[in-house]
Amino acid sequence: MNIHTYPDPILKKKAEPVVSIDGGLQRLINNMSKLMYEAWGIGLAANQVGVAKRIIIFDTTYREKEKDLTVLINPTIVLAEGKVVSEEGCLSVPDFQGKITREEYLKVRGLDRRGKPIDIDAEGLTAICIQHEIDHLNGTLILDHVSHLKRNLYRRKIDKLLKKG
Ligand code: NI
Repeated sequence: MNIHTYPDPILKKKAEPVVSIDGGLQRLINNMSKLMYEAWGIGLAANQVGVAKRIIIFDTTYREKEKDLTVLINPTIVLAEGKVVSEEGCLSVPDFQGKITREEYLKVRGLDRRGKPIDIDAEGLTAICIQHEIDHLNGTLILDHVSHLKRNLYRRKIDKLLKKG
């Protein structure tokens, strides 16, 4: 299992809801978390590892503190307020940063890895990260939030790299 990068078509695919909490799901979450921490990422969506299921994981503070992983299965945003602009990157879009406007405060609902319903109130980087990861589940990348010009420049750069091999 590895982190898929643009232009892999899995990243444009809308992920399907998780219907059973089983051993396969636990293994998938363990692998996702391993890959995320290895890559020094703060969040990861299942499509990024090639599985079109509605699962996101994140840990926005481990670079300063202890690891504290949150797993959210079938997440939905039930409340969103405010606006915040920040520079975002993505493990699936290497060497790219884009200024993106997000909601500042969120209430998100979903299931934890055992299938228990959870509500999360998030703000700041965590709120941004959750929106970024839910975007992934809907087939949306940070490239879709920036100008055509910026997107096309990146696409051309990647095309050239792919041609070179
Ligand atoms: Ni991402």
